[in-house]
Order: sequence, then structure tokens, then C-alpha cells
Amino acid sequence: MKTNCLKGFTVVAFILISFLSNAQTSRLIVNADQGSAIINKHIYGHFAEHLGRNIYGGIWVGPDSKIPNEEGYRLDVMKAIQKLEIPNLRWPGGCFADEYHWTDGIGNPKDRPTMINTHWGGVVEDNSFGTHEFMNFAKKIGAEPYITGNVGSGSVDEMSKWIEYINFDGVSPMSNLRKKNGQDEPWDIKYWGVGNENWGCGGNMTAEYYANEYRRYATYARDYGANKLYKIAGGANSNDYNWTEVLMKNIPLNMMDGLSVHYYTMTGSWTDKKSATIFDKETYLETLRKAAGIEELIKRHGAIMDQYDPEKRIGMIVDEWGTWYQVEPGTNPGFLYQQNTMRDAHVAAISLNIFNKHADRVHMANLAQTVNVLQAIILTNDTDMILTPTYHVFDLYKPHKDATLLSHHLVTEVVSYGKEKLEALNVSTSKSPDGTVNISIANIHPDKKIDLDVVLRGISAKTVTAEYVTAPSIDSYNTFEKKEVVKKAAFKDFKLDKDNLKIAVPANSVLMVRVK
Ligand code: AHR
Repeated sequence: MKTNCLKGFTVVAFILISFLSNAQTSRLIVNADQGSAIINKHIYGHFAEHLGRNIYGGIWVGPDSKIPNEEGYRLDVMKAIQKLEIPNLRWPGGCFADEYHWTDGIGNPKDRPTMINTHWGGVVEDNSFGTHEFMNFAKKIGAEPYITGNVGSGSVDEMSKWIEYINFDGVSPMSNLRKKNGQDEPWDIKYWGVGNENWGCGGNMTAEYYANEYRRYATYARDYGANKLYKIAGGANSNDYNWTEVLMKNIPLNMMDGLSVHYYTMTGSWTDKKSATIFDKETYLETLRKAAGIEELIKRHGAIMDQYDPEKRIGMIVDEWGTWYQVEPGTNPGFLYQQNTMRDAHVAAISLNIFNKHADRVHMANLAQTVNVLQAIILTNDTDMILTPTYHVFDLYKPHKDATLLSHHLVTEVVSYGKEKLEALNVSTSKSPDGTVNISIANIHPDKKIDLDVVLRGISAKTVTAEYVTAPSIDSYNTFEKKEVVKKAAFKDFKLDKDNLKIAVPANSVLMVRVK
């Protein structure tokens, strides 16, 4: 019996090895019966800061606007976001959060004080979009609110009262004020960030100082009723591993549920960023290589977290990620308005594939940002709106949400231009609760179709459906004149033969293949 098993195993191993070593065609083995980590739907979260035309003009136009709206929310944008079924929305910043005083944004809009948005263009913020407007918007789009409190220029008392205002279901000064402002029921929000980038715009603190502050703020961030807060500590700037070490060491683990990390993909440098739309193939590969660089951060911050939290209870929260280019010519540099090409679609696909892969530790991620800012999913100009290539990738990737991550093995070819080289295919595999296997594939090759042989292990496949996002070239993008240069479409170029699936993956495309 033992000998037969061993023989069987050797044959299977031999077949797999010969299969993998035949590098003529790209090969993928999907283990549909091997997986335990659930891809938290919150990995597909978004971020809307009071920055440029994200909130004002993007999400909120006010009830008196000529732009069609529902209670002040732009209808076109709201509908597009509803369709995406985003799991959570982070607000009000970003750097803005540590300058924001929530009491300025409640009550009659006419009586709300104004402030200067010093971080983002020095424009006047009239506070017409405040707590109630945000909470109502989150409800309309079906997303869980994720609020970032003010640690940099606020106080423990201010944040504590904000939580009481939002969540307390009883008689108290803050819940009475909420009721007076028209909201009887508490909102019971769970996700709460304790400051943002407190090593920088959130107060220029040292890790040790922030860890102490965090303990004070978290102490008075109370649970009310049955609602248990999920408290997220402001994490490291990119590869500042010391920050993570100090926080994990100095904050009692039962006081923290998540630890954030921010990672932006830039070509050029911080002071000399490159164009969002004009780039050569080498710069294209450089961008994608840098986007893939988030994996090293996840591994290294994760390794530090593992030492203190081997059960991985504390989530790594990548609550800002995406591309950061030069602003579009002629626009306010403080508004961070940039176009979004097929290159960004690949950045989104690669990043989401990586977050999925580390689903045991990455419990949430938030693309920066939702409308008109950085790697936006939606762009608007006055009354018009377009969906970006990044929007379509999020749409395509919906089946991965709350699915079980599956293991896979991929062998593919390498694309290279100048000094840069990268694997042509980038894949993530998962299984939905109904048993459907989801395979997301980015073919980053600008002009070569890749034949992919997929072996489906652990599933008897009967049907295959697929959709894809593609474009004439890597720098294609949607404009207000041509809105559908990059869009999502049905994909048919595959053939299923028992457990073998052949896919002709088009050049410069992102696919979602679903097998049942
Ligand atoms: O997303 C833009 C800014 O980038 C955020 O306000 C800040 O947190 C980060 O530096």
C-alpha cells in the first residue's frame, strides 16, 4: 500500500516537473483544493481625503448644484462607486486628518467655520462635507466607514468625543448633540485610525513618542454598546522597519487591531516625478517593478509583526497605496490630479495580486484616492465623468473578495527593456464560497500575446467564463472625449479540455477567468 502511494506520488511529481520545465509556453498549476487564508474584502478598500477635487466636485457638489445630485452627492460618481461595491472608505485624510477638527463639520452648514487646507493647495475648506455627509455617503454606497482621527494637532478628548458622537446609543452630551443634528441612531462604526503618517505630516513624531501617544488615544477610544472598535495605529513610512519594531514592542497588543503602512509607486523621484501619460517601455517596466516592491515591505514589516503576533491577529493595513506622478499640465500642483493609463491598470492588478497573496497578514488596503486624486478610479470635469483603467481592474477583481486564497505555481517568460526586466504574467488564484475558482492574470507584455497552459488540480471543471481589460497600448487612457478606450469586456480566447485550460492571454491585458 505504502509502495503504491510512493509510486503514485513519484509519477505525479514527475509529470509536474516536466510540465513546469517546458518553458515554451507559460504554465500555471492551480491547487483548487489547497488554501485556508480568506482574502479579506477590505483589501479592496478606498480612500477619500479632503484634497483637490476628491470630495468637493468629485463626491459632493451640494444640493443646489447644476450637476445632477442626490442630497448633494454627485449622481454619476455615486452610481459608479455603488457598482464597484467597495467594502470601506477611509476619510477625512491623509495629512488633512491631523488638521481636521470634526466639530467644525457638524450642524447647519451655513454656520460651519471655514479653515485653510494648508497641505493641499492652501484652498478654503468650508466644512460643508462633514461627519453626517460622510456617514450618509458611506451608507448610500454600501461601504463601511473608516475614520482617521486627529493626533497631530488634536487632542485625546477631541477624538474620544468624536467616537462618542458617532457611536454612543444613550443619553450623553455628544449623543444628544448628534440627535440635535438630525441623527437619532448611532452609526456604530468599527474602523478607527489613530492619526496618519505621524512620522511626517501627522506631527513629525518619533516612533517612541507616537507609541506613547497611541496608548493615550486608544485608552479613551471607547467601545459603546455591542460595537467593538478596530483601532489602527499609524504605521511606517514605506521601509522604515524601526517604526514597526518600536510600535509592536511598546504598544500592548490588546490595544491595537491594525498597523498601517503606506506605499506609493513613483517614477523618477519625490522631487522630480514623471508624467502619468508619457513614458517609454523601460519607464513602464520600472513603474511595475516598483509597484511590485510592496511585497518586500509586506514581508519585512510582516516578519517583525510575526515576532510579537505570531497568530497574525493584528492586520497590516496598507491604507494608502497607488501611483504618484506629475500633476496634469495646467492643474493646481496641490490638487494631485493625474491621468490614469493602462500602466495603472497593471499596477493595480500586480498590487492586488500581492495583497491577496499575503491575505493572512494584510487585512485591509486602501487605494489612494477615489476621485480626481492620484491613482483615482474616477475622474470628473465639471459635469462629466470618466472611469479609469484602475476602476475596471477593481471591477474585474470583485470575485476575489472574501474568497479563499489558493496556492499556485507559475512559470512564465521575462520581458525586458533597457535595465529593467519583469515576468510577463502576474497571477492570483482564489476560490469563491460557491466553489468557483478565480484566476486573475495580468499580461504586462506591451505587445506579445502569451499562451498559458493551466492545470486545474482539485476541481472537475465544467464551465469557464472570463472578462478582461485591455487597450491598444500601455499608455492608452480614457478622456472626456473618448471615454471607452480602456474598458472591461467579455473574453473568449480559451479552451477547456478536462483539467487543462488553455488561455491566449492578450498583450497588455488584465483578465479574470472563472472556472466552475
Ligand atoms: O494621498 C496623499 C497623501 O499622501 C496623504 O495625505 C498622506 O497621508 C500621504 O503622504
